[in-house]
Amino acid sequence: MKWMWMVALVALVGCKSENKAPASAEAGAPGAPAAQKKLSVGFSQVGAESAWRTAETQSIRGEAEKRGVDLKFADAQGKQAQQIQALTSFIAQKVDAIVLAPVVETGWDVVLSQAKQANIPVILVDRGIKVTDDSLYTTLIASDFVEEGRMAAEWLAKQTNGKANVYELQGTTGAAPAIDRKKGFEEVLAKYPELKIVKSQSADFTRAKGKEVMEAFIKSDGQQIQAVYAHNDDMALGAIQALEEAGMKPGEGVTVISVDGVKGAFEAMVAGKLNATVECNPLMGPLVFDTITKVRSGEKVEKFIKNTDRLFEKTNAAQVIGSREY
Ligand code: AHR
Repeated sequence: MKWMWMVALVALVGCKSENKAPASAEAGAPGAPAAQKKLSVGFSQVGAESAWRTAETQSIRGEAEKRGVDLKFADAQGKQAQQIQALTSFIAQKVDAIVLAPVVETGWDVVLSQAKQANIPVILVDRGIKVTDDSLYTTLIASDFVEEGRMAAEWLAKQTNGKANVYELQGTTGAAPAIDRKKGFEEVLAKYPELKIVKSQSADFTRAKGKEVMEAFIKSDGQQIQAVYAHNDDMALGAIQALEEAGMKPGEGVTVISVDGVKGAFEAMVAGKLNATVECNPLMGPLVFDTITKVRSGEKVEKFIKNTDRLFEKTNAAQVIGSREY
């Protein structure tokens, strides 16, 4: 009889190990068993300077919650030093992965080498970096900012028949979207000698600074201003306010184009005050965690996972505003 009990026990143990979750269904992956150790991810966010950034934060936080991921969130309030501190703390806590939205392009080598030594994959979101060794990060999930700048310039050239005085509101100095959106825009402008950037200044991606810088442009150049190119919608919305307060007509007398495609920009287009916006999708949550799952299961991922963006104009804004998700 004793041997029968032994056979039953061996069969039971065998069943248990077969029921083990496959490697691909770890915590964080859709359908992962609840009892598994939670996937822990550190997310270092730039701050909350724009509606776009808030939408990105909500997307990543919401998706983490949905998947039962233990997300350690750190808001750097626009400071690289705070991001480096957050990353150092994530490494000390031995998180399973790090998600970094870097405020500026340079200065990441040391802390990312520490992450690499600790075997922690680093997923860059929305902004790229410049490092001496590309293996310091696993992948970048983002839009092509140079292409966004080109799209904005091509649209403006068409709209103005290649002739206008353009006033540019740049994003945060040293940030990839500020550098690349300027680069792509200027690349196209080189084909149109009468479409010129007259003044260009950083307004740090915020609505308040967009208004402030635009007020200074109006004070010095007034009626010469024919077009505004803002590196994001928030700065354009601030500029629109400044133009209106000065008795000028954004969307008619002054052509305004920006980047992001947030709800506020669509409202301004419907109201006829913003002419166009180039979409830059911030809803990265699902893709971020799918990518982390792939990386952890040993699957190879592309070094640059690119979002596809479109341009929206005030003529079609009313038709699509209802379906906008951010
Ligand atoms: O990195 C993306 C940019 O950063 C967005 O265009 C802007 O709104 C944000 O703050």
